[in-house]
Amino acid sequence: ERHRDMEGVRLLVTAGATREAVDPVRFFTNHSTGKMGYAIAEAAAKRGAQVTLVSGKTNLTPPADVEFVPVVSAEDMYQAVIARYDKMDVIVKSAAVADYRPKSIHSQKMKKQPGDLVIELERTRDILAELGKRKTHQFLVGFAAETENVEENARGKLERKNADMIVANNVAQSGAGFGTDTNIVTIYTKDGEKRDLPQMSKAEIADRLLDAVLEACKKRRE
Ligand code: PMT
Repeated sequence: ERHRDMEGVRLLVTAGATREAVDPVRFFTNHSTGKMGYAIAEAAAKRGAQVTLVSGKTNLTPPADVEFVPVVSAEDMYQAVIARYDKMDVIVKSAAVADYRPKSIHSQKMKKQPGDLVIELERTRDILAELGKRKTHQFLVGFAAETENVEENARGKLERKNADMIVANNVAQSGAGFGTDTNIVTIYTKDGEKRDLPQMSKAEIADRLLDAVLEACKKRRE
């Protein structure tokens, strides 16, 4: 039934973690493996969408039939996504993007010194918020990785970032969030709808998420 139901849809998905360099040999990152985002890219491609996958470094092989755009830092991801935004119909931001990066990157490997070390961090650009500001026709899906107040934070992100849908996962739950093959999510839409999904594989979550996107887009056209 889902067979080729995304023909003609141009979808960009971001996946994985960013790496924020400290010096030539060190970086800050997080536990995202890219599994969630790659599952979405694969599911959308199988359904006939024209898929672009913008990905931080992962151990995964990009799915067949997607345009693959590898990136390293939050700023790289920002540039890659913004450059392709106008041509896209749907954006799914499943990457775990760093909120902070070292204020300066040391050009040489930092040497050990006696005592503590302080590294000053500065904010990265919020890609989702920028997409929300520049939105024309696109359908914008954000993720929310929370450990508490999931609903409140998800609804806050919908509003503040001008997103059309937020997929919230409580990353403190086992079988959900970073690294696992399954996830447990709640999908919040702009028009106030809320859909709780039980624990299922990231592949199945991907299809459910895409179902919800198609449904919301259809509703919008009516
Ligand atoms: O990759 P896996 O191991 O499979 O794990 C999947 C996942 C847990 C990473 C995924 O399901 C998920 O929740 N991704 C979003 C993680 C995240 O960064 O959430 P957040 O609440 O910090 O950010 C909210 C949204 O803003 C996200 O869509 C994020 O992509 C976006 N964001 C955040 C910071 C930033 N500078 N720019 C952004 O666009």
